[in-house]
Order: sequence, then structure tokens, then C-alpha cells
Amino acid sequence: MYKVALNFADGRTHFIGVNAGETVLDAALRQGMTIPVDCREGVCATCKGTCQSGNYQLEYVDEDALTEAELEKGAVLTCQMRVASDCAVRFDFDSTLCTSAGPEVIDATVKAVEIVSESTAIVHIDAGSRPGQLDFLPGQYAHVQVPGTDEWRSYSFACKPNENNQLQFLIRLLSQGVMSDYLRDRAKPGDKLRLKAPLGAFYLHKVTRPLILVAGGTGLAAFLGMLDEMAADPARCTQPVTLFYGVTQVVDLCEMERIQKYAEQLPNFSYRSIVMKASEGWQGPVGVVTDLFEEHHFNGGEVDAYLCGPPPMVDAVKGWLDQRQMGNSDVYYEKFSAS
Ligand SMILES: Cc1cc2nc3c(=O)[nH]c(=O)nc-3n(C[C@H](O)[C@H](O)[C@H](O)COP(=O)(O)OP(=O)(O)OC[C@H]3O[C@@H](n4cnc5c(N)ncnc54)[C@H](O)[C@@H]3O)c2cc1C
Ligand code: FES
Repeated sequence: MYKVALNFADGRTHFIGVNAGETVLDAALRQGMTIPVDCREGVCATCKGTCQSGNYQLEYVDEDALTEAELEKGAVLTCQMRVASDCAVRFDFDSTLCTSAGPEVIDATVKAVEIVSESTAIVHIDAGSRPGQLDFLPGQYAHVQVPGTDEWRSYSFACKPNENNQLQFLIRLLSQGVMSDYLRDRAKPGDKLRLKAPLGAFYLHKVTRPLILVAGGTGLAAFLGMLDEMAADPARCTQPVTLFYGVTQVVDLCEMERIQKYAEQLPNFSYRSIVMKASEGWQGPVGVVTDLFEEHHFNGGEVDAYLCGPPPMVDAVKGWLDQRQMGNSDVYYEKFSAS
């Protein structure tokens, strides 16, 4: 059985299991997801989506349903789609059209709070009491309850899904903040909390050209999840992958050993870091993350760029790409606005 992520315009994702020979539409209906349909014969395009990763075949597609150009971009008719691997399919409508259920609420406990730089903690969460694996696409995020309060904050998964549901989040410690204060002052192993997940439409699409990953501060979290997944299955990504990682000060840099390990596991992976404020002992570049970019990183505009972090960083990188008219690159981003 293959796992197919159905991703909707409202940022919700539902995972379904699809049997060999079964269409994605039939599998979805069997599991209570009422994808809109009409003809069920590949003619009307009511069940249309876009396959963003994975391998599949389409049984019959009427020429009025999808154009050649749409097919090339991964457009699919779920009533005609049989998958040959795990896949992610995006729909332009909200999940509420298919189901009334919201994201799953999961009971979990804090396992450890690991301080990984002066301004950053990795929070290890044990959601092992949930039956079965919690599925999400690395890059997606969870709503996390601040233990002991009714406040919720959004955090990108900094790990890949795993059968024991041991989760990690990379969290910036603000000088004052509900979650930041909890993590700095009161957190202890065994604290109970709840998560709502998976959320968001930021995740790794099928890799067909070089990848540019741009992280600002704890925006690194989303890429740790994606790189964990690539490292577990290096055949999935044979294209060059370059991570650009920018922080305010040297003391904010974190998980450098983990990043170095990816470079050993993934032959096409390289990374560069930059700090905004110079300090003693730092031999690397000083400036903003776009200062690291060189024309050759962008393969003549034929790249997929993923940006994650504070909104000003994401906007600056998008602006940089726009100015250079990288019209052929696809740009995906997640902004860590206050949540
Ligand atoms: C989709 C999404 C994913 C996110 N993923 C991550 C993640 O993986 N790691 C991570 O560290 N953060 C992430 N964030 C930001 C995070 O949700 C919180 O906003 C942040 O951790 C602050 O929470 P807090 O309770 O400590 O502060 P709050 O009590 O919410 O805020 C305290 C003060 O700090 C300000 N503030 C809030 N957030 C920020 C910020 N990001 N930068 C500067 N000032 C801020 C507030 O306006 C307020 O004045 C994400 C946000 C979104 C929307
Ligand atoms: S329902 Fe008409 S094309 Fe799939």
C-alpha cells in the first residue's frame, strides 16, 4: 500500500492509503474523503489536482479535461490516477469541501529541552502514545500548546516522521514570550501538551532540478526535516542541494554538526552560513543571506527555491530572485510570523 498526502488550499493535509491498482479517488472515498467528482471517466476534470511528488499513471485523460502543458506540470485526474510510489497531491480547494474534520489533536509530553545555541532550543516531544505513525511532510508545521496554558504556537517539524512519534521542534528563545518563557524557566520532562498537525503547504516537491534552501534563524527547522528525509533515502534526490543559513550572531548558529553530517551522507549537498554581526573567532562571511548567492548557484534560473524564516528574510530573498528575473524557478516559502 502507498501513502498519498492530499494537500488542500486551506493548508490542511490528509493522508490516505492507496492499494495497488486502486485509483486515488476510490481510495479517498473509501477513507471518508469526498473529493468532488462528476463523470469519473477522465472527461470533466472536476476531480483535478496536481501531483507534486511521487510516481503515477493516468488511465484515460480526455483532451478537453487537461492540456499537454497541464499534464507536463503534474496535473492529474484523481479518478484516473494509479500511484506507483508514495505521492503528494495538491488541490486548489479547501479540505472542508471533502471533510468536516480538522487537523488531528494529539496528546504528548515534553521529553527534553536541549539548548543548542544561546538563542535556540530543540524541544523533544514524545507523542508515542498515539496509535500508529503521525504522518506529515517535512516542512509542514504543528500547532503546539504551551504546557499549562491555553496558548498555542506554530512550529515546523525539525525531524522526519517516525514510527515511535518522537518529534523535534527548533525554537527561538525570545527575550520575552509565552513559549519562550516556558522553555527557559519552567519546562521539565513529563510536562503534558497537545499538538494539532499536520498543517501547512510548505514541503518538498518532486526534485527535478537543483534545490536552493534558504534558512533564516530557526527557519532551519523545516530543512532539518527535509534533509533528514533525503539522508534516509539519498536516491530520492540526485540533484545538487545548497543550504544557505543566515543568523544574527555567531552564537545563534546551531545544529552545525548535523548539517555537516548531511554533507557526508548526501554527495550533492553543500551549505554556507553567514552572520549579520561579526564577532571574535568567526572567520566566515558577515552580512545577510543573499550576500552568499552567486549566479552559478542558480543554474541559469532552473532551480527550485525553498525559503523559511522571519518574514523580512523571506521577502528579501524573493525580491533578490525577482530582480534577477528567475522566472523559471519555482519559489516556495514559509514565513514565521508571530503566531
Ligand atoms: C507557520 C509557522 C511556523 C513557525 N515555525 C517556527 C519554528 O519552527 N521555530 C520558531 O522558533 N518559530 C516558529 N514560528 C514562530 C512561532 O510560532 C512563535 O511566533 C514564536 O516562537 C514566538 O512565540 P512566543 O510564545 O515565545 O512569543 P509570543 O508570546 O507569541 O510573543 C512575544 C513577543 O514577541 C513578538 N514575536 C512573536 N514572534 C516573533 C518572532 N518570530 N520574531 C520576533 N518577534 C516575535 C510578539 O509580537 C510579542 O511582542 C512559526 C510561525 C509560523 C506562523
Ligand atoms: S470525475 Fe470527471 S475527470 Fe475525474
